[in-house]
Amino acid sequence: MRHRAEPWRVKVVEPISLPDRDTRRRRLEEAGYNVFAIPAEDVYIDLLTDSGTAAMSQNQWAGLMLGDESYAGARNFYTFRDTVQEITGFPFIIPTHQGRVAENLLFSTLVKPGMKVPSNNHFDTTRANIEVHGGEAVDLVIPEGRDPASEHPFKGNIDLERLDAFLAENGRERVPVAMLTITNNSGGGQPVSLANIRAMADICHRHGVPFFLDACRFAENAWFIKQREPGQAHRAVREIAGDMFSAADGCTMSAKKDGLANIGGFIAMRDQGLFEKLKNMLILIEGFPTYGGLAGRDLEAVARGLVEVLDERYLEFRVGQVQAFWERLDRAGIPMIRPAGGHAVYLDARRFLPHIPPEQYPAQALTVALYLEGGIRGVEIGGVMFGRKDAATGKDVWPELELVRLAVPRRVYTNTHLGYVAEVIETLFENREAIRGLRMVYAAPVLRHFTARFAPVESSVPA
Ligand code: F0G
Repeated sequence: MRHRAEPWRVKVVEPISLPDRDTRRRRLEEAGYNVFAIPAEDVYIDLLTDSGTAAMSQNQWAGLMLGDESYAGARNFYTFRDTVQEITGFPFIIPTHQGRVAENLLFSTLVKPGMKVPSNNHFDTTRANIEVHGGEAVDLVIPEGRDPASEHPFKGNIDLERLDAFLAENGRERVPVAMLTITNNSGGGQPVSLANIRAMADICHRHGVPFFLDACRFAENAWFIKQREPGQAHRAVREIAGDMFSAADGCTMSAKKDGLANIGGFIAMRDQGLFEKLKNMLILIEGFPTYGGLAGRDLEAVARGLVEVLDERYLEFRVGQVQAFWERLDRAGIPMIRPAGGHAVYLDARRFLPHIPPEQYPAQALTVALYLEGGIRGVEIGGVMFGRKDAATGKDVWPELELVRLAVPRRVYTNTHLGYVAEVIETLFENREAIRGLRMVYAAPVLRHFTARFAPVESSVPA
């Protein structure tokens, strides 16, 4: 057997159902062909995101009953703080209600107009939190990380030479902090090696620039290091994770991913001066430093989730499940980013639907077809999310890749569910010529992918 079965059994079930085809067609029309606007109850298999969608364990649910809802100094805060300190080694911990608030605290404090923040690939919220303060978010992933066909084992690695040159050119006055996203979500959920993390830390410190991890999927990244990096196979994932954090000066974290919680996050650091500044800002925007926008019970659920996520039987199944899903699609010849990511597979819509031109949004068309055909919800990461008009020429500028991300929630769907999804994708691929493009009929000025509306081109989606 390649992959073990789930290291848990089911105690509570949540019914899901597939609406009939007419209902699905109607829902799409009502939603303006944007799956963000479809009520979740009308989705059969929801692969929109792996964020906040995990199934909690009996241990986490039991922890909720131990929630101490005191305004200040709740007992769950201390459990939470001690757990984060133990896993990361960072002494100063600030809870937040999700990852982007940790980013907001960090960048609103450090970034001034004209400054630049490098990363392998910034996630959208990181980029937006830098740009809103007049900074520039710069992506420096290795060239293999931009090539969907490359089989590099650590496609999330940052390009160390470019980083060194970038820091030499801009200096610490213009670079208040450097980030590294593990695993690299915007680059296909690809991992970063321990050697790359350590080398980046050395370069940053040589230039006097603090180095922060965007650690949302730190446990999945550590698992990949154990599997793929020479000399790491015999080590405990917990130890590897400790090494990743020990190279850095701090991290931002969305506990909605590898915290195995439905809400939560934190920012952790070594610098006490920075900690004091962020704490004051936290009180302004989130809450008192011992709860940071969370209920006491949520802090408890995150603390317990952070311990569970480092269980290697869990990680073997988790990453193995995504891998097996990817392999089945690969055997059917479905074009995807290679290799499988830790939390998602990414369909390559440009190669899936070569007959649909970029101005008819192939990845959006595929997202719509997945819902119509199988009640499946993925997310477009292509021309809708990243396309823009050139200010000078007024011409459309399209991103390098047109992708549909199918993110797998943690501990939620069985292999049977994913087998169903694979079958739907295979059917669509066989009949791909029938899938038609879309025309955008409404777009908001910023983050348009959430609310854009579309109309089918010609006979539109398959009958
Ligand atoms: N950093 C990364 C790498 C992320 O993937 C996310 C969220 C965040 C930061 C922000 O965290 O949502 O708790 O504020 N990613 C989700 C996704 C939304 O679907 O990939 P948040």
